[in-house]
Amino acid sequence: MRERFGRSVWQRQFENGEFLEEECQVTPVPLRTASLRVVGGGREHAGPAGRGPNAHASVNGAAGPAGTAIAVEGLSVRYGETEALSGVTMEIKKHRVTAFIGPSGCGKSTLLRCFNRMNDLIPGAQVSGRVLFEGRDIYAPGVDVTELRRRVGMVFQRPNPFAMSIFDNVAYGPRLLGLKKRQVEERVVESLQKAALWDEVKDRLRAPALALSGGQQQRLCIARALAVGPEVLLMDEPCSALDPISTSRIEDLILSLKEQLTIVIVTHNLQQAARIADETAFFLAGRLVEFEETAILFARPVHPETERYVTGRFG
Ligand SMILES: Nc1ncnc2c1ncn2[C@@H]1O[C@H](COP(=O)(O)OP(=O)(O)OP(=O)(O)O)[C@@H](O)[C@H]1O
Ligand SMILES: [Mg+2]
Repeated sequence: MRERFGRSVWQRQFENGEFLEEECQVTPVPLRTASLRVVGGGREHAGPAGRGPNAHASVNGAAGPAGTAIAVEGLSVRYGETEALSGVTMEIKKHRVTAFIGPSGCGKSTLLRCFNRMNDLIPGAQVSGRVLFEGRDIYAPGVDVTELRRRVGMVFQRPNPFAMSIFDNVAYGPRLLGLKKRQVEERVVESLQKAALWDEVKDRLRAPALALSGGQQQRLCIARALAVGPEVLLMDEPCSALDPISTSRIEDLILSLKEQLTIVIVTHNLQQAARIADETAFFLAGRLVEFEETAILFARPVHPETERYVTGRFG
């Protein structure tokens, strides 16, 4: 761990998609902090993706007044010989919580990682199709991946604070963005407040982050992600290592954050999807089977596979 921290936190946080999961290989790239835009090469979004009776559908047709944050068009991902995702087309609406559900290995994490190009870091991963963020193709030449990952942040299953103080964990990103001391302090307070952690840590900001409970550590990781001002937050099973009370706090937090952010969450907890997600997508063997408003998907699924899954008969 020490070696990883010493190497370059910046690289892990932005270049490598913030604290990569162990299986991802690190590909160091030059530090770039000046240009914080998704640049050039992006083809403009041609409009809503194709709709059909099933998988290739956006929820309820048009994206609605909130608009589309991420549009996925015919996305397939292979890891060598393994096809992890096949022809996924969907739209993630702004300021909504979208849940991805489905049995283990169906491609949920793979799809989530496509949204900030973290699959770039996995040897042998091949991505085809398009992912449009704010109407621009994030896989087009010239895209600033560092900036993309600042705008599309990620929180993982296991809380992974840096071995530094609570304050420094949250301050890390803002400092790297070049904010002044005062602005960094403001950003830390604001982010801890947004992450519903401030009251619990305000008197011990210099204490080690690793001394916090698991649930507090996960909220700290959310605060750290928020501190660089993302527009989308990707959460891969963020509560699976937490007790019910911590889970409930994170769920409340997600609901409060969607006013400011778009949230995509992978969960194996169907009750959690039902509680917090506006829309839910069900995946099976790399295919998007059904994508609907959560209440409808659970109450009146169209596809037999979805029904079997949401009623606990397989998966
Ligand atoms: N780094 C990798 N290298 C090779 N194959 C991978 C890699 N990551 C995932 N896969 C394969 O891709 C497929 C989809 O995996 P993915 O992790 O996206 O599934 P998941 O739906 O998130 O599963 P879980 O619910 O268990 O987290 C699986 O067959 C998996 O074995
Ligand atoms: Mg996964």
